[in-house]
Amino acid sequence: MKAIIAGTGFDHMEGLSLTRRVVENRWGSVELFLGTQDDEGLLFLPRHGSDHFRAPHMIDYRANIQALTDLGVTEAVAIYAVGSISDRLKPGEVGIVGDWVDFTGMGQTFYDEGEVVHISVDEPFSRDLQQRAKARMPSLQESVVYVTTKGPRLETKAEIAFFARQGFDVVGMTLASEATLLAERSIATLALAYSINWAAGVGEGRVTFIDDDQIEAMKVTITQLCRSILSI
Ligand code: HPA
Repeated sequence: MKAIIAGTGFDHMEGLSLTRRVVENRWGSVELFLGTQDDEGLLFLPRHGSDHFRAPHMIDYRANIQALTDLGVTEAVAIYAVGSISDRLKPGEVGIVGDWVDFTGMGQTFYDEGEVVHISVDEPFSRDLQQRAKARMPSLQESVVYVTTKGPRLETKAEIAFFARQGFDVVGMTLASEATLLAERSIATLALAYSINWAAGVGEGRVTFIDDDQIEAMKVTITQLCRSILSI
């Protein structure tokens, strides 16, 4: 089974034949969508819930990723809306995340009881999926570094200036928690970031988000890319 995990602006996926399911596990209940007809073998998970009710720090990441594991997911494309800190990924652009920094303080893990396990995340994302993405869209920026904050507020200008000095490229609120658990469950993952704003203090004036039609265009691009990468 292959999964697409998406968040802000992507609570629904256009053009896929999906049927809603709610599954339970020890961490909670998860609403997800299973592919039917031509999309059999695909699972779509809106990480905030399809009504976008769960703020980033309130998402039950373990319930979400356990649900994927229970349904036999082995490959996933995870899609993240981000703010741009460096011009390696500007608003309106889509890139491949290569690494992350975790400023959430949330320490999401499946290994907080029983056996002590320290998984390695020195190569956290699937090389094969990254190569497939790049082959289909050579213009994709690679090796984007995503710094994860707890949110739900956006960052201060001083926080972003600090992140910029460290060389981080984009900021968002979900990747570190989710990618850690995907790695712990050995799900081969491609992380795609699409930028919808300059982060605080980076662009001119206040934080402003790009137009809806630009966001829609990126969503179309990403949806086509996902279909092609996952062969659906
Ligand atoms: N900060 C944090 N998360 C985000 C941003 C941002 O500027 N834009 C989209 N997600």
